[in-house]
Amino acid sequence: MAGRIPQEFIDQLLSRVDLVEIVNARVPLRRMGREFMACCPFHAEKTPSFTVSPRKQFYHCFGCGAHGTAIGFLMAYERLEFPDAVEDLARLVGLDVPKTGGGPSGSGSFRPLLDWLAQADRFFRQRLREHPARQRAIDYLRQRGLTGQIAASFGIGYAPPGWSNLSQALHEAGATVQDLVDAGLASRDEQGRPRDRFRDRIMFPIRDRRGRVIAFGGRALDGDTTPKYLNSPETPVFHKGAELYGLHEARIHTPHLRRLVVVEGYMDVVALAQHDIPYAVATLGTATTPEHVERLFRTVSDLVFCFDGDRAGRAAATRALEVALPFLRDGRQIGFLLLPEGEDPDTLIRREGQAGFERRLEQAVPLADHLFAELRAQADPNTLAGRARLAELARPLLEKLPEGHFRDLMVERLRQEAQLMHTRLRLPSGGTVDLARHNLQLTRTPLRKAIALLLYRPELARAVVADDPALRGGEPGVKLLAELIGGLRANPDLSIAALLERYRDTREGAILERLAQWRLEIPEEEYQFEQEFADIVTYLRRRNDPREHLLETLLLRGTPRALSIEEREELRSLGKPQKI
Ligand code: UTP
Ligand code: MN
Repeated sequence: MAGRIPQEFIDQLLSRVDLVEIVNARVPLRRMGREFMACCPFHAEKTPSFTVSPRKQFYHCFGCGAHGTAIGFLMAYERLEFPDAVEDLARLVGLDVPKTGGGPSGSGSFRPLLDWLAQADRFFRQRLREHPARQRAIDYLRQRGLTGQIAASFGIGYAPPGWSNLSQALHEAGATVQDLVDAGLASRDEQGRPRDRFRDRIMFPIRDRRGRVIAFGGRALDGDTTPKYLNSPETPVFHKGAELYGLHEARIHTPHLRRLVVVEGYMDVVALAQHDIPYAVATLGTATTPEHVERLFRTVSDLVFCFDGDRAGRAAATRALEVALPFLRDGRQIGFLLLPEGEDPDTLIRREGQAGFERRLEQAVPLADHLFAELRAQADPNTLAGRARLAELARPLLEKLPEGHFRDLMVERLRQEAQLMHTRLRLPSGGTVDLARHNLQLTRTPLRKAIALLLYRPELARAVVADDPALRGGEPGVKLLAELIGGLRANPDLSIAALLERYRDTREGAILERLAQWRLEIPEEEYQFEQEFADIVTYLRRRNDPREHLLETLLLRGTPRALSIEEREELRSLGKPQKI
């Protein structure tokens, strides 16, 4: 079941979120009749078999069998634990997850660390408002064109000069030296006393995707201090290669996040937001990693890598391209924007403003063009040897692409670029469809069909009262049907998704999820739901009628003629046998 989060809350949550919206934000959907379709995000495919039912608030892939509710989708797509998926959805619709109390769970062991980081964050922000030396920091931010409002929205703070400001404050709040060291906020001196890591720096809190402060970047206030930027070290909660500065802020500041721009620096992110481009993120002084790309594509399907136009920037673009290739499923796109030499997004947006920068973004070079331009720079397609080399260089890159239209297009393009008209170009195909899941089958029994119909039309529950004879009998299926009907009658607004969530991780849940994928034999608009359901209920009532049982046993023996005299007598007393 759902763990410690109260069931009523899950019900309420699922009645407010819209699965179509949640999926569409990550996997663009197309309407097909009553449902929405897309290529499945959980396996490689070229023709869409992933469907989302707005009414059931349930998704199902006919290709790989993946299915579930909004919570399940977030868990699978964003690789979240149940409580985290619930929390994300709750935030989306403005609900607070009730505090459940007790017991460490999941990230529970990092709790104290995160608490000290949160306190440090408050400390730095407060120093920016109150410390006697704050004016230098304020002047610096102002000189860089930032308003108080933007600084506040990124939680920018100030670490005053001195070796023990933060350590002292956190010590008074109960932190040990080890806590401070573990959180990456201090080191030990020879005497074992804590020394603040960040001194006289503008502080940028780095948040995880849930908005919790997990690290800091600190910028020196002048040009002489080295390093210019000092980051938190790796800690149990901070892994540089996986985090992106500004991702949380971008998600909050942009209601319908469609695109993310990846830049190099903290200041670039903040300056872009200052000029109404609140959808930039920065890697933290590292090259782009697969974790970055994966994380970015879990949030949007359109990325623009924006690097300086110098050699380092071009190298960074090449690296980003290679790393991103395996993630380029159909429907996702990447552009490259190389800035003029000597410029960064911060300087450029200040000069050209939002419109100018967005125009540049629109003109970003599509990944395919960028890739072939790079290849042509290394191999001249005008010579035979060059063409062979082009194909040779391209092949390992194209092999990294997942199967799909895009890969086909790229192979075709390579054929053209390298003029390989007569050469066979084959890439290995990765069969990623899980056949065991593909062949999910459930025998269609009347009981199962009743449940399936109920999942299509929850209002059918009205036709059956709690003590209806149809719901008697000890079979698990009957109990489940009775429970569902009870639940729906008690709470007619309960969505199917909420109903399914009640059975998360149970045997019944597994059956329900499969029944939620039940296909009707004829189109839904022509389907006689009431009639079909009533027929099954009648069948179930009869089945539970003891006289009916008797009849059945008697009939099973064979023709009336094969019965004994007494049995024939009994049969007659039951009345005319009916076909069941
Ligand atoms: P840049 O040197 O390009 O600086 O570093 P910037 O972003 O333009 O900074 P401003 O405009 O001078 O303030 C880009 C990124 O590289 C990392 C930081 O993440 C920085 O944002 N970096 C840079 C460091 O970690 N340490 C450094 O000393 C310098
Ligand atoms: Mn800069």
